[in-house]
Amino acid sequence: MAKGFYVSKSLGLVGLVTGAAALVTIVALSVVYDREKTRNTKSPADDGVTATMAVSISTTQSVPKDPWDHYRLPDALSPVSYNITLWPRLQVNQDGLYIFTGQSAVVFECKKPTDLILIHSNKLNLTLINGRHARLTGLGGATPPTIKDSWLQVETEFLVIQLNGKLSAGKIYMLFTEFKGELADDLEGFYRSEYTEDGVLKVVATSQMQPTYARKAFPCFDEPAMKAVFHITLFHDRGTVALSNGRDLETINTTKDGFEVTMTRFEPTERMSTYLLAFIVSDFDHVTGSVENIDSNCLQVRIWARRKAVSEGQGDYALNVTGPMLRFYEKYYNTSYPLSKSDQIALPDFNAGAMENWGLITYRETALLFDSEISSVGNKERVTTVVAHELAHMWFGNLVTLRWWNDLWLNEGFASYVEYLGADYAEPTWNIKEQIILYDVHKVFAVDALASSHPLSRKEEEVNRPAEISEMFNTISYSKGAAVLRMLSEFLTEPVFARGLSSYLNKFAFNNTVYTDLWDHLQKAVISTPEIRLPDTVHNIMNRWVLQMGFPVVTIDTTNGKITQKHFLLDPDSVVERPSPYNYTWFVPIKWMKGGVEQEQHWLLQRAEHHLPMRTSGSEWLLVNLKMSGYYRVNYNLENWERLLNQLNTDHLVIPVINRAQILDDAFNLARAKIVNTTLALRTTRYLYQERDYIPWESAIRNLNYYILMFDRGPGYGALQAYLKKQITPLFEHFRTITANWTKVPVGHNDQYNQINAISFACMTGVEACRVLTRSWFREWMRNPHRNPIHPNLKSTVYCNAIAAGGVEEWDFAWMMLKNATVATEAAKLRGALACTKAPWLLNRYLEYSLDPAQIRKQDATATISNVASNVVGMPLAWAFVRARWSYIFSEYGGGSFSFSNLINAVTRRFSTEFELKQLKQFKEDNAHVGSGSGTLALEQAIEKTSANIRWVAENQQHIINWFTSESR
Ligand code: BES
Ligand code: ZN
Repeated sequence: MAKGFYVSKSLGLVGLVTGAAALVTIVALSVVYDREKTRNTKSPADDGVTATMAVSISTTQSVPKDPWDHYRLPDALSPVSYNITLWPRLQVNQDGLYIFTGQSAVVFECKKPTDLILIHSNKLNLTLINGRHARLTGLGGATPPTIKDSWLQVETEFLVIQLNGKLSAGKIYMLFTEFKGELADDLEGFYRSEYTEDGVLKVVATSQMQPTYARKAFPCFDEPAMKAVFHITLFHDRGTVALSNGRDLETINTTKDGFEVTMTRFEPTERMSTYLLAFIVSDFDHVTGSVENIDSNCLQVRIWARRKAVSEGQGDYALNVTGPMLRFYEKYYNTSYPLSKSDQIALPDFNAGAMENWGLITYRETALLFDSEISSVGNKERVTTVVAHELAHMWFGNLVTLRWWNDLWLNEGFASYVEYLGADYAEPTWNIKEQIILYDVHKVFAVDALASSHPLSRKEEEVNRPAEISEMFNTISYSKGAAVLRMLSEFLTEPVFARGLSSYLNKFAFNNTVYTDLWDHLQKAVISTPEIRLPDTVHNIMNRWVLQMGFPVVTIDTTNGKITQKHFLLDPDSVVERPSPYNYTWFVPIKWMKGGVEQEQHWLLQRAEHHLPMRTSGSEWLLVNLKMSGYYRVNYNLENWERLLNQLNTDHLVIPVINRAQILDDAFNLARAKIVNTTLALRTTRYLYQERDYIPWESAIRNLNYYILMFDRGPGYGALQAYLKKQITPLFEHFRTITANWTKVPVGHNDQYNQINAISFACMTGVEACRVLTRSWFREWMRNPHRNPIHPNLKSTVYCNAIAAGGVEEWDFAWMMLKNATVATEAAKLRGALACTKAPWLLNRYLEYSLDPAQIRKQDATATISNVASNVVGMPLAWAFVRARWSYIFSEYGGGSFSFSNLINAVTRRFSTEFELKQLKQFKEDNAHVGSGSGTLALEQAIEKTSANIRWVAENQQHIINWFTSESR
């Protein structure tokens, strides 16, 4: 089944000008799929998520004539409630298939007279009733017209029902359908997940509806604004548990079609969108707790997982943080938790990281389960932030829902911002709020600085097909969304932001909005707070950040106090700037510091202006964009740069930690954009031998990683390694000392991360003590596989280094441990480390395994190939593999598009030669017929980036190598 999205000339790209030829620009960015932070990896900057570029597709066609050729529902009908019964079979039928059967009755109101019913239905086999696909009845005295014709419109995923007369406005009707579907392993709609426990194969029936897969479980009006109440009943095998959004009302044993089954009926849901539904049948176990909410009601909280995982206590951590987080959000939103229970469940097969189904949140195992003996600090933080993110959606997104997918950025950006607040409340000692700089702001800067970026907000008419909807789940929506909302919250102050938010949630509870509704409520909160003075309305300030792509670089000249702003583009050579409604100027809030003291916030409203207090004298430096609360980069006159460098070298602690990370990231990126000279960027790394904090180190490593990728196959790599070794050795020694020769764990949360960086980088740059250490730990484990002596935090890097240095024995041992692993985080670490071997035959064997679902789960396939590609030896093998198997990968794994563009990015990340460029272009040509989807978009971008890399290496290589050589003496 081809799941990748597709842009073909024959497809109706709807919403075009009537009868005219049209030019459609489709902009796609790669999607944030599983946003697992890639700490503990060999290439820390390899975050696996980058953007693909914009592609213009010219296509000539006329507007489709019939309503069922449009992808959007007409506004004539509005659902009120559904009565749904589903029965998943957890054993194969006589055809060797897993199936489910179901019935659904939807009650709807006719808003405008019509003789046509369009309702979504995809891949369902509908039982004919009197020769029709459905039965229509009238309620409350309404007489329904008879059905003239009915059919399934495959392309637009509609069940079409033409009537002999019209439905009347204001009247209520009911449409009944009976259907059968496949419970496939495709991770979409109602699907199945499998695992073995005690040697027995177990099957779970579970669901993933967002964005457009509810229609694959039952016929429905599958749009987020078509909210309704759902009455759900599940039939399931005796001995299994059925879960859904609400509490179960009754569970009774019965027989159905001669089978002994159990029937579970759930309380009706609140008025909600179809994409938030969930149905699960499993033999899972759970841990349970109760939380008292702000109305003093008792809320049932449960964590579900495989029996073994629960008995090993892997659900305990998630349970412990859920209560405090729910209470935190109730206070923050000033709204009580809207439901009567909260279930969270970890599934062995799950495509995304987690999904915010209302009352029944689904997760990948690595995002919910934590084993304190086996999992690392990074695994723990992942659980905290993912739970915080999904719980945040219970109000923002679920209680109040954006009307259409074009506004997805507000839903996901919001959750991606407040997840830091929720996580900080649950784990106050972690300083987790700082991390947004690395995981969102810096990450999205890299994408949003490309000419191929796009604005946060898109027009409703531009987002229609399921593929276009999927494209909205990208780095811009998540991370730029989070960054600009954080900026907004900072300049409004958190109490004002929260007040506006609460008023928005109360006003629109159980309904739908557009993003400007939030601005209106924030504006009301501003008006009622005289202390807050803004240069313009929330609406006008935010429009510039939401409706134009990119962000500014703000330049301060401290000799005269002149401030200017300019659209920041990473590669100004290769691009023509697209027009913007605001000519690439923004209203920029500037928090700044002079003489080490924070000054009054300034607003930059013009392209250029003077702010005289920003002049400095003597050796005094200016630091702009404190805490990086603004979504922009900063450049200075050279004198101020010199003073900042001087401060870093003499006493770096005077500069706040986030701004140390910012100085590094700004300098490197300004150099890539040829705004400052590369030597200046390199000089920001000189002070690192004294740096002990994680955030600046991580920022440096990510930037230096670009150099590593460009140089690790060339003659200059030795000099680069020598310099990095010199800089990292003191950090390595520092951790050796404070951990009493690696026998203890650093106390601070970020220190634990930095220890991992120190070891990874030290081993990579050839610090001998590091290599000896990792090899001896791994040997010890191989001697006694039942006792792993490696601290969970260090496992990824130790496994990877030992497998890289070892041979088939190490590899086979790790593979065996992977097969036996019962903790998903352990399996994930081993899976990553197996890609670290330097033996080509092992890498090729591993690539083969990656496409065999019996060896590597489908959810992990493209990530595994990407892992091989990030290994310098594996990269050409992975590239050859991807080229040879492209059409198969595309048809079997093309799905969620996200992983697909990530794969292309991973494979081509090092490309920097004319030969590679030629191969890429050839590949694109050869596969034009196979299908395009996000793969082609990513490919276009890879071609653009490869060209830029070729130029960059030619212009910079010699100079940089010389600098490293002289610095490492
Ligand atoms: N709503 C998304 C899950 C999703 C993503 C569904 C893409 C359909 C397509 C969920 O809230 C989410 O954002 N999950 C993230 C994890 C989160 C911590 C950023 C994910 O799945 O990676
Ligand atoms: Zn989300």
